[in-house]
Amino acid sequence: MSRETIESILQEKRLFSPPAEFAQNAHIKSLEQYQELYDRAAADPEEFWAQLAEKELHWFQKWDRVLDWQPPFAKWFVNGKINISYNCLDRHLTTWRKNKAAIIWEGEPGDSRTLTYAQLHREVCQMANVMKQLGVKKGDRVGIYMPMIPEAAIAMLACARIGAPHSVVFGGFSSEALKARLLDAQAKLVVTADGGWRKDQIVPLKDSVDEAIAHNGVPSVENILVVERTKQKIHMEPGRDHWWHDLQAGASADCPAEPMNSEDMLFILYTSGTTGKPKGVVHTTGGYNLYTHVTCKWAFDLKDTDVYWCTADVGWITGHSYIVYGPLSNGATSLMYEGAPRPSNPGCFWDVVEKYGVTIFYTAPTAIRAFIKMGEHHPKARNLSSLRILGTVGEPINPEAWMWYHKIIGGGRCPIVDTWWQTETGGFMITPLPGAIPTKPGSATLPFPGIIADIVDLEGNSVPTNRGGYLAIKYPWPSMMRTVYGDDDRFRRTYWEHIPPKDGQYFYFAGDGARKDSDGYFWIMGRVDDVMNIAGHRIGTMEVESALVSHPAVAEAAVVSRPDEVKGEDIFAFVTLEGSYQPSEKLKEELKQHVVKEIGTIARPGEIRFADALPKTRSGKIIRRFLRNLAAGQDLVGDISTMEDLSVLDKLREGT
Ligand code: WTA
Repeated sequence: MSRETIESILQEKRLFSPPAEFAQNAHIKSLEQYQELYDRAAADPEEFWAQLAEKELHWFQKWDRVLDWQPPFAKWFVNGKINISYNCLDRHLTTWRKNKAAIIWEGEPGDSRTLTYAQLHREVCQMANVMKQLGVKKGDRVGIYMPMIPEAAIAMLACARIGAPHSVVFGGFSSEALKARLLDAQAKLVVTADGGWRKDQIVPLKDSVDEAIAHNGVPSVENILVVERTKQKIHMEPGRDHWWHDLQAGASADCPAEPMNSEDMLFILYTSGTTGKPKGVVHTTGGYNLYTHVTCKWAFDLKDTDVYWCTADVGWITGHSYIVYGPLSNGATSLMYEGAPRPSNPGCFWDVVEKYGVTIFYTAPTAIRAFIKMGEHHPKARNLSSLRILGTVGEPINPEAWMWYHKIIGGGRCPIVDTWWQTETGGFMITPLPGAIPTKPGSATLPFPGIIADIVDLEGNSVPTNRGGYLAIKYPWPSMMRTVYGDDDRFRRTYWEHIPPKDGQYFYFAGDGARKDSDGYFWIMGRVDDVMNIAGHRIGTMEVESALVSHPAVAEAAVVSRPDEVKGEDIFAFVTLEGSYQPSEKLKEELKQHVVKEIGTIARPGEIRFADALPKTRSGKIIRRFLRNLAAGQDLVGDISTMEDLSVLDKLREGT
């Protein structure tokens, strides 16, 4: 976050109370009610979650124990039997919701489709049967590499239905990145599409899958199921590649949901960390179903009349928890949009809001800042009066963007829920409840009931009010990640050892810096580790460095982020070249393209600077702090006496 942003946040005094009529009709109606729930949950979390689990979800068999906590490993609803696809579909079919819209899909260019709960159920059952026919069994992993089309959600729910954990890979990731994820998850089947639409262009998804698994690159993959979307020419390998519409035609729509153990793995989702290798975050069934259901219901105050739209991609946790599982478990109408705002269509989001009468709209601060730049005449030219709640996620929102969102999009009447959470947490951790918690621009406000959050130092001591520290969670919650896939040790090291346990108290280390004000409100300041937040996407500095050094011209690379007006942060790479290579603009472009090939467009460096050497300590460690200062065009902050060769800094400043 930039210094100006931090300063404006520190001075932020504005408070917005929930409108009285809104509060009256909300699930959680007042600060007192929130406080009562919070206190009740803190006093007896197991009882709190058990009551909700019983009331809100269908179980084939009740659990014998609510929580088994062997730090840092938690099991929730031990021996309970449940299926999240059943909770998202079947149970609504015996009610009037059977013919309610489950998914409204607005595609590109100009396509659209609505699936009722009955229709969605039918397609999910068919795809589940097709998966079985292709040899997928309970416990087998399925890779999903899809555009934003209903079949992405159908594939996820079909996996959940038969107990095959899915691993969705964002369609913007390159074939290299896809390969690494499919290999780690040992996926048996990949569900993909011929292509997808992204900003007026076709993304050749099936070609990427072919590249990823070429030359037996991912030996575990036996079959590929291909959804027809863009109709461009693709290769179909006989015996291995199958068109979904061909197999769907012969597939039965009868596929009872498999009763799963509450702790059976529901999905793996890869996210960036401090090393080059992405982590497979593991989520299980019962606790995740409950927590995403309840957070979605209370934080978005979901009602049956709502048209709910989350603009994320299903390839990220936000898409998992708050496009698919949370809303559908609640029987809500969830809108999926394949497009994205771009210069050729700057009003597209507002057209969608107007067309479908969207009532709840959830997006990222980066998008809001981009809209500010595009001009308020675009939203003002549309009727946005259906909106009643706005949400943001993914990165800290600066107060100016918050105010614009509130006034221009929300017409000054819609509460804003700024939801802080992570791939690892599964669901919202710190968020306003819109009828209960007054909001302050830039603050995610208060923890959700059942979440014991604190700002601490590295010894686990709470830091005083308004002092910066590390955001930590001090008690397990139902949708917490269970482990890093195949690597319990990495799970322990990454999340539970930065702040060592003391007196039996464990601290989940979120990797974010934050402070708490005198009202107990949380203000998230951003990552404190080597993870960057580029336009709300998590990217590890090491991932980009590994991509760069895999190019023959690069001897060494150091990657930092620098503040960016729209994206929040942008990638800045310092590179030293191998002897025979000369710096040039052409080489810069080639290296940027190389990163795109290795990771994907989201990781394309904004700037590359060539250098003779990188600033290092005498023990050979790169001093990133200095590089961050240089990238941001600031004076160097901190002690330079530990540096091995001071002349390096001058050369870097001049740079090429
Ligand atoms: C950041 C996305 C400030 C944070 C759901 C976190 C936020 C990382 C907020 C997780 C917010 C997410 N305010 N920062 N409301 N929400 N973040 O795993 O740094 O893609 O650690 O999950 O995004 O990113 P992830």
